[in-house]
Amino acid sequence: MTSAVWPWPRVLAHRCGGALAPENTLAGLAAAARSGCRGVEFDVMLAADHVPVLIHDETLERTTNGRGRVADTPWGALSRLDAGGWFDERFAGEPLPSLQDAAARCIELGLAVNLEIKPAAGFETETGQVAARVAVACWRDAALPPLLSSFSESALLAAAGEAPRLPRGLLVEQVPEDWRARCQRVGAVALHAHHDALDAGIVADVRAAGLWLACYTVNDPAHAAELFAWGVDCVITDHPDRVGVR
Ligand code: G3P
Ligand code: MG
Repeated sequence: MTSAVWPWPRVLAHRCGGALAPENTLAGLAAAARSGCRGVEFDVMLAADHVPVLIHDETLERTTNGRGRVADTPWGALSRLDAGGWFDERFAGEPLPSLQDAAARCIELGLAVNLEIKPAAGFETETGQVAARVAVACWRDAALPPLLSSFSESALLAAAGEAPRLPRGLLVEQVPEDWRARCQRVGAVALHAHHDALDAGIVADVRAAGLWLACYTVNDPAHAAELFAWGVDCVITDHPDRVGVR
């Protein structure tokens, strides 16, 4: 992690606001900030016309009132969807945000951002390139640039080509044997692992390699405390209100 992004928050709200609001929405960003959280993680995928938008699934049904694939739907149509009503009628009409909308709101709210590049299958390179290009433009004048992460090494390499100065994190579920080589290959400064994959020994090894270590999705405050005691740098949580603000 470069000094430019320090001090990075120790707790990030998952998918914008975790369980406090519909995932990957501006309402989630507001909820995270209201909870006292200083940073968020969110998922970025490309619309059919390559506008980067915040959404987790490749399809629209679970988290919006739309139907079909995100990659087949242009931004004009996505921008008219309700991405809040599925969660609670209080959030009905909440829009599905573009990355540009979300970045502007995060900068206003002073939230650090872990931007997860979440490519639809087959769009890894394009998603990495476009997400990084738009991120550079959106955060051009901001004090704290976003940390880009992805499960897709192709997406991370594409992002590195487009925005070599933005920090990158490799996302994994299990920590693979060759985690050092993989992180080196994509120029990652961080490793983001599922919390179940970690123990004190792995945490020590990753930290000794000079990597910043984040883990997801940690919803039990006692487990978060244990992870921090092992040396984990950051937890990503659905409950920023319970896991604590650091
Ligand atoms: O970036 C950490 C976490 O968000 C990865 O899992 O499926 O919630 O995007 P997912
Ligand atoms: Mg994510």
